[in-house]
Amino acid sequence: MAREVIAAGLDLGDSRIKCVIALRHADGQVDVIGTGVHPANGFQNGAVQNPDEAVASIRKAVEEAELMAGCEIHEVYLAASSRHFETFDSTGMTRIVGEQVADVDVRAAIDMAEAVRMGPDQRVLHVVPQEFVVDGQRGIKQPLGIPGVRLEVHAHLVLGNAPVIETLEACCRRARLTVLDVFVSPLALAECLLTPQSRDVGVAVVDIGSDTTDVVVFERGAIAHTAVLAIGGDHITADIRDCLNTPTAEAENLKRAHGTALAHVVDPDEIVEVPGVGGRRPRPVKRALLCEIIEARVEEIFRLVADELSRAGYREDLAGGVILTGGTASLHYIEELAEHTLQMPAARGIPRDLHGLVDVVADPKYASATGLVLAGLRERSRDWHSEKLRRVRPVRRSSLWWLWPWGGGGEKRV
Ligand SMILES: Nc1ncnc2c1ncn2[C@@H]1O[C@H](COP(=O)(O)OP(=O)(O)OP(=O)(O)O)[C@@H](O)[C@H]1O
Ligand SMILES: [Mg+2]
Repeated sequence: MAREVIAAGLDLGDSRIKCVIALRHADGQVDVIGTGVHPANGFQNGAVQNPDEAVASIRKAVEEAELMAGCEIHEVYLAASSRHFETFDSTGMTRIVGEQVADVDVRAAIDMAEAVRMGPDQRVLHVVPQEFVVDGQRGIKQPLGIPGVRLEVHAHLVLGNAPVIETLEACCRRARLTVLDVFVSPLALAECLLTPQSRDVGVAVVDIGSDTTDVVVFERGAIAHTAVLAIGGDHITADIRDCLNTPTAEAENLKRAHGTALAHVVDPDEIVEVPGVGGRRPRPVKRALLCEIIEARVEEIFRLVADELSRAGYREDLAGGVILTGGTASLHYIEELAEHTLQMPAARGIPRDLHGLVDVVADPKYASATGLVLAGLRERSRDWHSEKLRRVRPVRRSSLWWLWPWGGGGEKRV
């Protein structure tokens, strides 16, 4: 009998820590009930630099979300930065034990696919089956119950950097939080922003964070390509600071309050006040100039994204276009600039199938944390299945992201 479940997602970004708490009702409806955000002190390049500061920042973000939700959380799903994982393809194969494919056969085939030579610092985070083959019959997404003697699986493995992830987990423990599972952020984003159809036909998620832009291509329901570009929203802020001669914090405020990704849409006569450095008097500057600075840098980001997609051979193939997310995706007219530069459809990612504080989590900065909660809730809803598998094998750290129930039933954790 289904019951109410509360889950929390924690996105440890380089600039801000985001926490989202959600409640799943017995009928399956998911309400976002709390959100918290706090500057990510003690983090750099997706890793912990100063554990004390990191723990304090985590607590602040979580407490803000707890206050809003009116409950305490002790367990979280965590997002690992794309900087610390890599993906590659692997194949596994097994003899089917009975007359038809059962859980135990699927598990055995996936275990074999998982058995790859890994560096001492690597750990398998996810196994993403792309296709099963039963006695040579290809393209099977759900093999259970199919009669045959030989089962193959073609899967993507997602390997994470173990020391980085263990340090993140240790900081969470010190912040009185148990990490239930670690998801790589693109999978969390996909959970939140992509429809099963777009994941199938091909779509790129472009997450423009603070120092980096993550590009992840989904095809045939699974991650097909990832790249991390060393450019992000903080570069825009630095340009504003340098061109308009204003402190970094003021440049950030100007960007958020008056910035747009297209300069020609603003009134050419509109003036904004730019605070001076060292207490000097504010100066009037045309808003169009501010937006030109922003447009130039955002355009550069999209050119680099276009180069990356071309290099990986996805420029023409993405029928689902580009989904924009991360804090910088809040800029007005960013979709238009993306479409113009990338020459493909672009949209800002909107969380799907949610209730409650929907308007709050529509802010792109919350997409990863929201996706984590959804992934976590799906994981719990499959517990009956995990139990069945646990009887066969002991509990392991990796998550299986199954292809066939994308959007409708989720992955199994074993
Ligand atoms: N309203 C806004 N308009 C423009 N830019 C914004 C806005 N809000 C946030 N940003 C920018 O978004 C960036 C932070 O985005 P986000 O919170 O997604 O990053 P992060 O997850 O902390 O970092 P990363 O993903 O790189 O580790 C910063 O550069 C910030 O200036
Ligand atoms: Mg981020």
